[in-house]
Amino acid sequence: MKLAVTLALAMATALLAMFIAGEGSNSPLCQAQAAQPLAPRVSFSEDVLPLLKFKCSSCHQAGGEGYEKSGMDLTSYQGVMKGTKFGPMVVPGDPEASNLMRLLDWRVSAELRMPHGKKQLSICDRDTVRTWIFDGAKDN
Ligand code: HEC
Repeated sequence: MKLAVTLALAMATALLAMFIAGEGSNSPLCQAQAAQPLAPRVSFSEDVLPLLKFKCSSCHQAGGEGYEKSGMDLTSYQGVMKGTKFGPMVVPGDPEASNLMRLLDWRVSAELRMPHGKKQLSICDRDTVRTWIFDGAKDN
């Protein structure tokens, strides 16, 4: 009897662990990375740009508050690479030195964090941008 209870508990724990492990890899990007390690890890047009358009472009296109104040247009590759009116925000190959990552990781004072007044991007979303920069910030 005691053995049966112990076995049942062990199985429940194993099932729970499988469930939790499965949860983490829900996003399409994480699955793509796991499934095809030799394919390009991140595509600008398929992974990064849709993210920026969805989360940032309401303010960061002509007429938007972020664009008007900083000059940062987040609706195209050229805009992202050009940066603000003071200079580039992306250093290809070096996410640590890229101010874009500092703003997204909230490694800056609260009033500078992006996106302004909204939730921080998920770790998976930020890692998409980080990996793209690390791989050379290509127009791929
Ligand atoms: C609700 C509006 C809003 C949203 C959404 C928003 N921004 Fe901004 N952003 C601003 C404003 C306004 C500025 C001008 C500078 C400031 O006020 O901090 C700015 C400035 C910037 C700058 C320049 C910072 C500097 O040091 O000059 C970057 C880079 C930036 N935003 C990136 C992003 C990214 C990436 C996203 C999406 C994840 C985003 N922003 C979403 C409003 C926004």
